[in-house]
Amino acid sequence: MQTGLKSYNYGSKRQWRKWVWNRIVERLDISPRVARGFYLLGPDNEDYKIAKQKKFRPANLIGIDMNKKAVISARKQGCIAIQGDISDIICNWGERIDFVNADFCCGLTKQFYRFMGSLMDAKSISDKTVIALNLLRGRDGFSSGVLENAKIGKNEFERKFGRLPKFIEQKMNEKMGNVNKHRGMMAISQIGEFLYYLKRGKFPSGNSITMFYLHYTLMKKMRPDFSWYKSNSGNMIMDSVVFKYPINCEGEYRLDKCMKNKIAAAKAVRTKKILA
Ligand SMILES: C[S@@+](CC[C@H](N)C(=O)[O-])C[C@H]1O[C@@H](n2cnc3c(N)ncnc32)[C@H](O)[C@@H]1O
Repeated sequence: MQTGLKSYNYGSKRQWRKWVWNRIVERLDISPRVARGFYLLGPDNEDYKIAKQKKFRPANLIGIDMNKKAVISARKQGCIAIQGDISDIICNWGERIDFVNADFCCGLTKQFYRFMGSLMDAKSISDKTVIALNLLRGRDGFSSGVLENAKIGKNEFERKFGRLPKFIEQKMNEKMGNVNKHRGMMAISQIGEFLYYLKRGKFPSGNSITMFYLHYTLMKKMRPDFSWYKSNSGNMIMDSVVFKYPINCEGEYRLDKCMKNKIAAAKAVRTKKILA
């Protein structure tokens, strides 16, 4: 079903969607049959079909989109769908969330960082929640600083420990297109920086070796897996990462009355589906 938005139904994206849902299933502590979570709808609601094939239940799949047409279209298909910013919905949901499949069409934008902040701010997110991100490489003002820090960090690491063996770098590049530019890698590095800040009250300098060890410890916890693909037109690169969120959040409800009403309506539809 089309909504007038750009369609995302093409070969490499179809393959990629399966890859994402498989990585989510691998990282869940529970069976997909009982796992509940969020995904971004888009114009065709393609993820819904794949998630069902992977044994997720329709009553546990909550589709989200800021775009009204996408939400109306999904509801016509009998899906649970909420219109709004995914960050607000995560913060106001108030119950356990097992996965968030955030196939954004943007890069490391302000709105994306708001989303990253909402993960920390929400009661529903725990160290059992699996997060999938899909991000556009390039065209984002915010990434230049992160890219610069990554380069400084890499140089510092190589001065201390020597160059990474070439085959490791090659393997990483195969997986990520370009390890230094991969937006999923940058996004999870930011989580490291947030956690460093929470612990020490300041952000690490780019060349901090402590930062490297923090990443190493986090990586073991998060078990990230990376991929990338070219868009239909071939001139855009999308970077993905699937990982387990590393901490339990102590966030409070963000009391947004309008969002609360929308969520209450979605929960009522969900209960009806479970009882049907
Ligand atoms: C790339 S599409 C999703 C495609 C879908 N996963 C698929 O494969 O068919 C991204 C959708 O997310 C919506 N979106 C982007 N940022 C959002 C946000 N912060 N909150 C809610 N919806 C958002 C856009 O309107 C768009 O329809």
